[in-house]
Amino acid sequence: MLGADSTTDDVLAGVDLTGRTAVITGSSGGLGLETARALAARGAAVVLAARDRVKLDAAVAQLRDQVPGITVDSVLLDLADLTSVRAAAAEVADRHPVIDLLIDNAGVMACPLGRTTDGFETQFGTNHLGHFLFTTLLKEPLATAVAEHGSARVVVLSSGGHRLSPIRWDDPNWERSEDYFNWTAYGQSKTANALFALELDRRWSSDGIRAFSVHPGMIATDLGRHMQAEDFEYLSSVRRTGADSADGGRAVFKSVPQGAATTVWAATSPALEAHGGAYLENCSVAEPVDDPDATHGVRSWARDPDQAVRLWELSEDLVGA
Ligand SMILES: NC(=O)c1ccc[n+]([C@@H]2O[C@H](COP(=O)([O-])OP(=O)(O)OC[C@H]3O[C@@H](n4cnc5c(N)ncnc54)[C@H](OP(=O)(O)O)[C@@H]3O)[C@@H](O)[C@H]2O)c1
Repeated sequence: MLGADSTTDDVLAGVDLTGRTAVITGSSGGLGLETARALAARGAAVVLAARDRVKLDAAVAQLRDQVPGITVDSVLLDLADLTSVRAAAAEVADRHPVIDLLIDNAGVMACPLGRTTDGFETQFGTNHLGHFLFTTLLKEPLATAVAEHGSARVVVLSSGGHRLSPIRWDDPNWERSEDYFNWTAYGQSKTANALFALELDRRWSSDGIRAFSVHPGMIATDLGRHMQAEDFEYLSSVRRTGADSADGGRAVFKSVPQGAATTVWAATSPALEAHGGAYLENCSVAEPVDDPDATHGVRSWARDPDQAVRLWELSEDLVGA
């Protein structure tokens, strides 16, 4: 039985992805690179997309060592720059007219107030708006996968951090308010990731394209690169108040292969056909939990269909789609 301790290889045991193509953003390291390795090990061709050419080349070399006979491509993609997003999507679609799996995995966390090239708050702009545009531009190759192979999936990495904030409809990019808090901004961006998957599934499931969002767990990766002492204090104070915390408030870390397990489950499990748009954690569909002290489950603001529609329309306006 799959659960919190399962690894990517546990999830994919017996799964054959030969002839399938997976595009993974933020795959130059962390969970994205492990996701690519695991999918490639089952026969998928993988396309790594990330913003740093040196890291990308190192990731490709690592995968070639780890997975004999791998088919791997790489594309430069800076999600914090919509010109780069458009160019990367065009390059990917040109080289890979059939995309079976799109894993929107890249992310930044808890950075100081900053702006993307197009002027969006860094976390909302990178984690959500960049992926919104990249994904919508790749609809055709995803639809072609449905025509040729019968299915296509989009997996969007959200986070338990979505519990830290709903969408701030009055000022999502902190253009008017001066109360910027790095964790609120991360929380908003991760709520946006969950709402995006919900609405994507509603809009595209009639074309055979299904979408899911994922909380991978807590995993020691480079994601914490912006964290200062006060951030660790803030996170442990949030955990201490967690009434349902089975570990008495201590952080329980997963390994990287455990952290990427729910992503590959979302990408491949036949059990999810009836759960399009769902938010997943620990290789299962998360339960709705609105207790503000809870440390698991999905809050209503991240699974509200009306807010999902509103976010889609706002995102279209902001990226000019
Ligand atoms: N680790 C956790 O505990 C945890 C928990 C909950 C959710 N998540 C989510 O899981 C996802 C993967 O996180 P991770 O832990 O693997 O983090 P990570 O090790 O920092 O990897 C993030 C990846 O995203 C890339 N990236 C960052 N900004 C980008 C941009 N503007 N354009 C393109 N690529 C960009 C990074 O490239 P560079 O190295 O070049 O910046 C890297 O390849 C994120 O969405 C995160 O929010 C992680």
